[in-house]
Amino acid sequence: MQDRVVSGNQGPEADTERTLRPDRLREYIGQDDLKERLSIFIQASLGRKEALDHVLLYGPPGLGKTTLAHIIANEMGVGIRYTSGPAIERPGDLASILTNIDDREVLFIDEIHRLSRPVEEVLYPAMEDFALDLVLGKGPGARSVRLDLPHFTLVGATTRPGMLASPLRDRFGVLLHLDFYDPADLAEIVGRSAKVLGIPMNLEAAHEIARRSRGTPRIANRLLKRIRDYAQVRGDGQVSKLLAVEALELLEVDPQGLDKIDRRLLLSIAQRYQGGPVGLDTLSAAVGEEAGTIEDVVEPYLLQQGFLQRTPRGRVLTRQAYQHLGLPVAPGMMGD
Ligand code: ADE
Repeated sequence: MQDRVVSGNQGPEADTERTLRPDRLREYIGQDDLKERLSIFIQASLGRKEALDHVLLYGPPGLGKTTLAHIIANEMGVGIRYTSGPAIERPGDLASILTNIDDREVLFIDEIHRLSRPVEEVLYPAMEDFALDLVLGKGPGARSVRLDLPHFTLVGATTRPGMLASPLRDRFGVLLHLDFYDPADLAEIVGRSAKVLGIPMNLEAAHEIARRSRGTPRIANRLLKRIRDYAQVRGDGQVSKLLAVEALELLEVDPQGLDKIDRRLLLSIAQRYQGGPVGLDTLSAAVGEEAGTIEDVVEPYLLQQGFLQRTPRGRVLTRQAYQHLGLPVAPGMMGD
C-alpha cells in the first residue's frame, strides 16, 4: 500500500488534509441529502439546548467522515476528541475518556467496528444512559456502582457497518451513509482546494482531476498536490488540462481513475482466473494486498463503476472491465 494514493489518513499528508478540511456545513461540498438531514438534527438539538444524538457515519474511506465529525462539533459549538477503535485497548481507556468529557462534547471514534468486546460493553450504558458501570472488588463480594456521565455525542465512523455488533449499531440515533462524489461535486472540491493551496488552475483541469479521483476527495486532493509538483518542475506552475493529463499519466492513474493496484487486480482475475469467480483470499495472495484492503479500499469503486461483481462464489469480472483493459471479451460474459 505504501505508494498508493488511496491509503489511510495518517502520515505526512494528514496536515494538508486538515488545512483543506471545511469547518462548517455550508462549506462542505456534495452529499446533499446527508447535509440536509444533519443540518435539521443539529438545529433541532441546538434549539432544545441538548447534545446531538449519537451519529454513525459509514461509507468507503476518504469521503470525509472525519471532516464531518469536525463539522458537527463546530456547528454544535462544542469541542471534539478524536480516537479510534484499535487505539482504545482496555475498558479503562474508554472509562477515562468518558469521565473527562464535557457536556455535549463530541467523542469521535474512527474505525469503530474495531472496538474490542469488553470496550463495547462499557460503551453501551454510556451511550444509552450516560452511565458508567464500575465493578468494585472481586469474587462474591464484588459490587457494581453506577457513575453518571456528561451528555456527550458519540460520532462513530466505519467503512464496515456490517461488522458492527447490532447492540452497538442500535444505539446510534442518526445513521448517515457517505457515497462516492459525483464528478461535478468533486471538481468543485478540487477547485476549492487549489484556491486554498494557491495553485493556479483552470476549470477544465479541475474536471479532469475530478474524473480520475475515484469519486473520493482524499484522492483528488493528493493528486492535486502531486500535479502541483509536476507543474512546478516541468511547467511554469500553472495547471492546465494538458499538464494534468501528463502528470496523471506519470502517476499511472488512467482516464477512469484506476491506478496500478486496480489494474493489477482486474488483470489478475482476467488472466489467472479466466474472469472468475475467484475468492477474496486467493485474490489477495495473487496480487499481494491484504484481503481487508482489497475489500475496503480497492473494490468499492470497482464495484460501483461496474468493473467487478461480488457473487456468492467469489469475484467476477464484467464485460466493461475487459473492455477497459483492452482484452477480448469472452462469449457469454457477465454485464451483457
Ligand atoms: N475537502 C474534502 N472533502 C470536502 C468536501 N466534501 N467539501 C469541501 N472540501 C472538502
